Amino acid sequence: MSGKIWGGRFSQDTNELVEQFSSSVQFDQRLYAHDILGSIAHARMLAKVGVISKDDFASIEAGLEQIKAQIEAGELEWSVQLEDVHMNIESRLTDLVGDAGKRLHTGRSRNDQIATDIRLYLRDAIGEIQHALLQVQVGLAEVAEAQADTIMPGFTHMQVAQPITFGHHMLAWNEMLERDFSRLTDCAKRMNVCPLGSAALAGTSFAIDREMTAKELGFDYPSANSLDAVADRDFMIEFTAAASLLMVHLSRMAEEMILWSTDAFDFVDLGDAFCTGSSIMPQKKNPDMAELVRGKTSRVNGHLHGLLMLMKGQPLTYNRDNQEDKEMLFDSIDTCLVCLQVYSEMIPQMLVKKDKLYAAAQGGYATATDLADYLVRKQVPFRDAHEIVGKTVNHAIEQDCTLDALPLSAMQQFCSAIEEDVFDVLTLEGSVNARDHIGGTAPARVLAAAKTAKRQLATKIKQFA
Ligand code: ARG
Repeated sequence: MSGKIWGGRFSQDTNELVEQFSSSVQFDQRLYAHDILGSIAHARMLAKVGVISKDDFASIEAGLEQIKAQIEAGELEWSVQLEDVHMNIESRLTDLVGDAGKRLHTGRSRNDQIATDIRLYLRDAIGEIQHALLQVQVGLAEVAEAQADTIMPGFTHMQVAQPITFGHHMLAWNEMLERDFSRLTDCAKRMNVCPLGSAALAGTSFAIDREMTAKELGFDYPSANSLDAVADRDFMIEFTAAASLLMVHLSRMAEEMILWSTDAFDFVDLGDAFCTGSSIMPQKKNPDMAELVRGKTSRVNGHLHGLLMLMKGQPLTYNRDNQEDKEMLFDSIDTCLVCLQVYSEMIPQMLVKKDKLYAAAQGGYATATDLADYLVRKQVPFRDAHEIVGKTVNHAIEQDCTLDALPLSAMQQFCSAIEEDVFDVLTLEGSVNARDHIGGTAPARVLAAAKTAKRQLATKIKQFA
């Protein structure tokens, strides 16, 4: 009566508002290719175990391929009455191939179907995000190589702390992204389990071959419990958590680029192509792209919370609540991708103002720790050295000069162990060169680390191709 695929026990039409309210095809149509992939694997398996005929399988496969081509040509009209991507495609298939189309759903439910579709879709999306992430990392490694010996102030508490190199800073960003990459790999691995065959919740009475469908779809193995398989969305939450952290990293990078491009810092120029003007203040060039990345971070982090809240009260197994997962997931994927794409172009094009960075490192008594270390090498206990240098810095502040501009005699009044060779450690170059160990900021180390990063990234990119 109701005209629905599931309408056998219904005698009234669905309320129109309910149709709009409950349909997901507006947003889940983007799963079409993966839905078709899953359906073909399922049908091939049904034919192999003898549940449907070889001819039916051939019709189903040809019909689904045709539908895929129609969708890609923009020729399929998605219908809200048909609720979701699954029933739109199945109904179109039946129009095309008749009874064979009606046999496709044997031994399957939309519950295991959607669980399979999203895993397939997300697996590909993670690959795309990782690919984009690698492009950003390559950009960072290249800037690091070019700026391996560009001295700048390093900060703690937003106060000048010690001299570092710009290349070292770029490689710090790269480390953050390296962890994001591996978190995504972990998540893709753990989610690569095939729910197909779990049917609505309890499995199916047909003698299906779950190993076959799992293998055909590139999953590592079939899920071990049919109830969990249709109810589980952990993998989405895990992905969104990894994506949230990735966005937090992109946001921290954005914050630094925004600060660095202010008149007060003036460390970098983000380039006209990545900035926008003000509608009222003609002199302005604003770092809006970095600000947007920082702003979009809130979306993905919000989606993580949304997905956690979506799951917290759900009894096993499938509940329609789960339909709400998709927009949050899709937006998380889209947001990460577009931000990474912007960064992969913006960062390599950033103009690094070496002179300004050097001048900024000269302020703030950034080599004070070097002076303390120098005294320690002259047998002064570190805590005494700290005190002596504190007083020396105070004196330099009073004289309004840098440490290396103090005469030797002025320094010697605070500690007689200070000799002529102190000036070697008070320069910025001396300071960075001295930090010559694994993970240190010495330009030679940074250059080597940038080259290593580039080599490792090139290998990873090849594996991805
Ligand atoms: N559109 C649904 C979703 O996104 C597909 C599964 C529907 N299953 C059901 N029993 N109504 O979750």
